[in-house]
Amino acid sequence: MDIVNPLIEKYVTELVPPRDPALAAVEEAAQANHVPMVGPLEGQALYVLARTARARTVLEVGSATGYSAIWLARAAREQGGSLVGIELDPSRQAEAERNLAVAGLSDVARIIRGDAFEVLPTLDGQFDLVFLDLVRQLGDEMKLRRLFELCVARVAVGGLLAVDNVLHGGEAVTLNTPGGRAADALNKLIARDPRLVTTFLPMRDGVALSLKIAP
Ligand SMILES: C[S@@+](CC[C@H](N)C(=O)[O-])C[C@H]1O[C@@H](n2cnc3c(N)ncnc32)[C@H](O)[C@@H]1O
Repeated sequence: MDIVNPLIEKYVTELVPPRDPALAAVEEAAQANHVPMVGPLEGQALYVLARTARARTVLEVGSATGYSAIWLARAAREQGGSLVGIELDPSRQAEAERNLAVAGLSDVARIIRGDAFEVLPTLDGQFDLVFLDLVRQLGDEMKLRRLFELCVARVAVGGLLAVDNVLHGGEAVTLNTPGGRAADALNKLIARDPRLVTTFLPMRDGVALSLKIAP
C-alpha cells in the first residue's frame, strides 16, 4: 500500500534541491546497493527539523551507510554540536564513517559499531534530537517496546524523538503481517505516552514525531 500517492511523492522529492557531491554519492551508492536510507525528501525534513529545534546533540539509532547521519550532522554542526550514530552491521558502520569523512563531518559525527540494545544504555546524557530508524528491521513488538523505552530515556525534556517507518508500508493499518501489528502497537504506545506529545507524519513510510514534555 502506498502511504503517499507516488505522483505526489515524486513531485515533492524532485523539489528537493540538488545534493552536494558527497551526499549525492552516498545516495547513489545506497540506491545501487539496496541499502536502506531515508532519501532526499525525508533527509531534508530531518535537517529542517533539527535546525528549527536548534538541536546541538543528535543521536541516530540505525545509521546504515550514513545518509541521514550526514543531513543531521550538518544541522548539528550549525549549532556547534555533534551527532552520534549506532549501526550493527560492521561494513555499513565502516562505510558510514568513510562517508562522513568525505562529507567533512568526522570532527562532529561518529558512528558506534554495535547493537542498539547494548549501546544505548551505555551512552552518557540526553540528546536534543533522537532519530530511531530501525523499526522495519525489528518487526517484533516486545523488541520495539524495549527499544522505544531506551530511546525515550535518551531524549532531553524539550527535545524531539523522530521514529521512521511507523506505518510499515500501510501494514500498521491493515494489520495483516506481524511487522504491521508490531508497528501498530508501537504507534499506540508512542501516541499514549504521557511524557510525549506526538504527531504522525504520513511522509514516505510514516514518521512519528514527538516532543518530550516530561521526564
Ligand atoms: C533503515 S536502516 C538506516 C538508514 C539510515 N538511517 C539512513 O537513512 O541513511 C536501519 C539500519 O539499522 C541497522 N540495525 C538493525 N538492527 C540494529 C540494532 N539492533 N542495532 C543497531 N543497528 C541495527 C541495520 O543494519 C540498518 O543498516
